[in-house]
Amino acid sequence: MKIGVAKNKKKIFVNFLKSNTEIHPLWLRERVTNAAYMDKNNGQRLYEPSEIKKNLKIKSALINKNYLNIQFSDGVNSEFIIKDLINEIYKKNKKQNITFWGSKLSKKPIFKFKKKLFHTKEGYKVLKDFYEYGFVIIKDTPVKKNYLSKFANVVGILRKTNFGTLFNVRSVRKASDLAYTSHALSAHTDNPYRRPIPGIQLLHCIKNDSEGGNSTLTDGFAIANHLRKKYPKYFQLLSSIKIRFTYQDSKTILENWGETIELNSDNSIKRVRLSPRLDYVPVLKKDKLDQFYKARSLFIKLCNSKNFMIEFKLKPGDIMMMDNYRTLHGRTSYNMTVGERHLQGCYIDHDSVESNMKNLKRKFY
Ligand code: OGA
Ligand code: ZN
Repeated sequence: MKIGVAKNKKKIFVNFLKSNTEIHPLWLRERVTNAAYMDKNNGQRLYEPSEIKKNLKIKSALINKNYLNIQFSDGVNSEFIIKDLINEIYKKNKKQNITFWGSKLSKKPIFKFKKKLFHTKEGYKVLKDFYEYGFVIIKDTPVKKNYLSKFANVVGILRKTNFGTLFNVRSVRKASDLAYTSHALSAHTDNPYRRPIPGIQLLHCIKNDSEGGNSTLTDGFAIANHLRKKYPKYFQLLSSIKIRFTYQDSKTILENWGETIELNSDNSIKRVRLSPRLDYVPVLKKDKLDQFYKARSLFIKLCNSKNFMIEFKLKPGDIMMMDNYRTLHGRTSYNMTVGERHLQGCYIDHDSVESNMKNLKRKFY
């Protein structure tokens, strides 16, 4: 990507994929960083950009090594760092680096805990892998009850819910959720009934010496892509029909709607939702629902299949961090008469974690 000035010095171009696009003068004018126009501490504008005259022009422009100098027709002169302009334009075209995986995933993103991990270069790698694979496991964290809140508030900002700041995943009588029993949990994403849906789930293993209780993970994006290729009709139904998800107890009523496979405007996969214990399909023409139920069954079968799912047992001190928009999790049933199983869990939204990742990148790379 390159930035150039026209011969008459009155137009700026960006050259990308062998084609030239003129950069609008207002686009540049809104990025003027002079102290009179922008607060240096936060990069925010000190004026109302919509009031700049719409017929603003470039009077003259010049490239001098790494800088682009522009005189605008309203009398403002400014110097731009070319690299900054390119970075901003490039960002729009840049995709997150994602590796799809199935049960053959050979090198799991596993890290060893150390103090101040998220203030180091290694911390950046943890978060980068988290976004590449949709999960990471951090081993040897302190095996202390409630330690998870501290951890969550270092990787991001913990999001409290009606289940509390942290929730305890262990078998109790009259459980407010199936998670708090010893039943198996098939592959699911958490809390699709919230608005917004929690972006990230953390589970911290405190005790896990009962029989069974293995954890499972599945890459929902890998399955969505598989369906898109092999079963396009089913993919179409799963990515267009909105399902109602709901949670109710004596104090709480939560509800949200969404597709099993939600797409971005460029048809790439935005997120998956699956929670077969609490989803409600809308009334549609019978033929359509015939097909939809088949599609959903296949999706669920694949999410729990040997080809796509990985299974392992968490050890005390392990923290599993999952992208709840991409990765499905579950567990095998366990036997409560032998040993004990206790996990603590909580949620974080993506913005705080992405911010920490970008900050670490800025600091170390
Ligand atoms: C949950 C959950 C899995 C487990 O609490 O959301 O899915 O391993 N728990 O108990
Ligand atoms: Zn869950």
